Formats: sequence, C-alpha cells, structure tokens
Amino acid sequence: MSYLPKSVRVVEVGPRDGLQNEAQQVPTEVKIELVDRLGAAGLPAVEVTSFVSPKWVPQLADAEAVLAGVDFRPGTDYPVLVPNLQGLERALATGVREVAVFTAASESFNQRNINAGIEESLTRIAAIMHAARDVDIKVRGYVSCVLGCPYEGDIDPARVAAVSRRLLDLGCYEISLGDTIGAGTPLAARRMLETTAAAVPLEQLAVHFHDTRGQALANIFACLETGVATIDASVAGLGGCPYASGATGNVATEDLVHMLHGMGIETGIDQRGLLEASLFISEALGRPPTSRLGMIAALHQKGRDDDKSEAG
Ligand code: HMG
Ligand code: MG
Repeated sequence: MSYLPKSVRVVEVGPRDGLQNEAQQVPTEVKIELVDRLGAAGLPAVEVTSFVSPKWVPQLADAEAVLAGVDFRPGTDYPVLVPNLQGLERALATGVREVAVFTAASESFNQRNINAGIEESLTRIAAIMHAARDVDIKVRGYVSCVLGCPYEGDIDPARVAAVSRRLLDLGCYEISLGDTIGAGTPLAARRMLETTAAAVPLEQLAVHFHDTRGQALANIFACLETGVATIDASVAGLGGCPYASGATGNVATEDLVHMLHGMGIETGIDQRGLLEASLFISEALGRPPTSRLGMIAALHQKGRDDDKSEAG
C-alpha cells in the first residue's frame, strides 16, 4: 500500500495564475467576487493577484483595487505574487500578510518572464525576504519549469532541487514546484519531487501542475504517493503563463477536490460552493469551464433550461 496523506491543503491560484493570462480585461468587481466565492467555499489559501509590472501583465494592473474590495475571511490566507521590492511595497501598502516570490529552474524562461537570470532573480528575492522579515510577512516561493522549459526542453531535477534549496535558505516557508507548461508525466513528476525532497523537507514542498497535455491529475496522484500534501490548483482550470506560449491552465480545483474527496483525503472545501465559483467565472468570461466537473454542471444546466423552454 502506498502512502497517501490524510488531508491536503489546496492553494487556489486561479484569480492570479488564471486571470493573468486572459486576453479580455476582466472587470475588477468580477475578480473580487471570484476571490470572495472561493474564500466562502472554504479554500484555505487564495492567491488574489500579482504586483508585477502592469506593462508586462496589464491583466492584473488593478491589483490594489481588487485587494481593497476583498472580504478577507479568517481561516483563509490571501497571498499575492511580487517580482521585486517595488511589488512588495505596493503589496504591503494594501495590508497583505503573505507574498509569493518566483524564479525558475531555467535560465531562458527567467529571462523571458522577469528579464533576469536565475542568480539575479535570487538577489532580488533576497532583498524581498529581508524587507518582508522586517514586517513579519510570510513568503512562499515558486520554481517554474520544473519538468520542462519552452526554450530549453528537459530540465534536470538536480537543478530544481538546487534552486528550491536556495529559496528555502533565503527564508521561504514553502516552495511550490511549477510544471509551467504541463510537460510532466507521472514518473518524471515523482522523480523530480523525490530529488527535490532530498534537498528541501517534503512538508515544505507543494506541487503546481498546468494541465496542457491532460497529465495534471495523474502527476498529482504520483506526487501524493510520495507524500506531498500541498497542491496548487485553479478554479475552472483557468490560466497559463503569458511568457510560456501554448501553456494552458492549472489543474482545475473542482476536479482535484473531487479526486481527493473520492479517495477519502480531506480538504475542508465545500465542493458545491467551489463549483458555483467555477460556473460564475466561466459565465463572466463567456465560455464553458474547462474542468470536467464544470462541463458536466454546465450540460445539466443547459438540459434544465431546454426542458423549461419546451414546457413554457
Ligand atoms: P523590467 O522591465 O526589467 O523592470 O521588468 P524595470 O525595473 O526596468 O522596470 C520597468 C518599468 O516597470 C518601470 O516603469 C518600473 O517602475 C515598472 P517605467 O519607469 O518604465 O515607467 N515596474 C513596476 N511597476 C509596478 N509594479 C512593479 C514593478 N516593477 C517594475 N512590481 C519585472 C522586470 C520583473 C518588473 C517584469 O519582468 C515583470 O513584472 N514580470 C512579471 C511577469 C509575470 O507576471 N509572469 C507571470 C507570473 S510567473 C508564473 O505565472 C509562473 C507561476 O505560476 C508558477 C508556474 O506555473 O511555474 C508562478
Ligand atoms: Mg503557474
């Protein structure tokens, strides 16, 4: 019998990782309602937005306004992504208590994503950590391209382990391992996690799978068997990265929670509220959810609407 955790902490990244990649401008009120619905559904963490350069990611230029509108619930953490000290200062001015920093296991991806190599990004992160420590702010770290890079191809798990260790040493309380372009398959995912867990305690690692090739749930299962108990996901399967062309959304939160609850793994999340949040954002974006559960719910809804119009 393989080892599976009894409970999993799901980190919802849809409002940030998802909405950063939308071609259309999503109204600020819609973003706020999405975050509030996710909090109300019992998500333990909702990454709200990012304080990156609005020239690079105009989709999230309203970060201050979104934070000003959110109904912060006790029991839910609301981290935001920051790339540099300027981003941290903007974030702190809104009163956030947690930020997330990001780098990559690929030099070329980092250059495209943040206009800096890995070493320079770690120098920027060290400055953020220093300032965050002064004001007692928690910092989560991301490593991108852990299973493949759009510019460099395969990534050696040893590079992932080395960069993750650096983030841990700088003071990140947790490192999220990002399969940014959904390149991974289960055995490679497990190997990467095991290699990284030799450098960073497994309890301080999270996994973050994009579902570009439909492998995300299988990859997650392989990592659960290794004992990981923190998983990032995106409601309605929203997302991608503007600097990783062709990358699609993260594993859909509702599909992930369905799988976890089906295996008796607790999350504390209300599946109905989560599904409603998925249908809400999909309707606001004018398209069906890409999650399997969202698709089923949308089909049922359409059937009920058709029945009503026939009866009427
Ligand atoms: P740069 O152009 O090299 O920076 O960008 P700069 O310092 O030269 O600044 C250029 C301009 O941006 C200046 O304005 C700055 O003030 C401004 P100007 O003088 O020209 O008017 N600026 C800012 N404005 C507001 N907030 C800021 C900020 N910083 C600079 N924080 C920079 C460097 C890092 C800023 C840029 O490359 C950037 O913002 N990149 C972010 C890209 C991004 O958000 N990518 C997606 C997130 S990562 C991801 O999705 C992966 C993840 O999900 C995990 C996974 O899936 O693997 C986390
Ligand atoms: Mg991502």
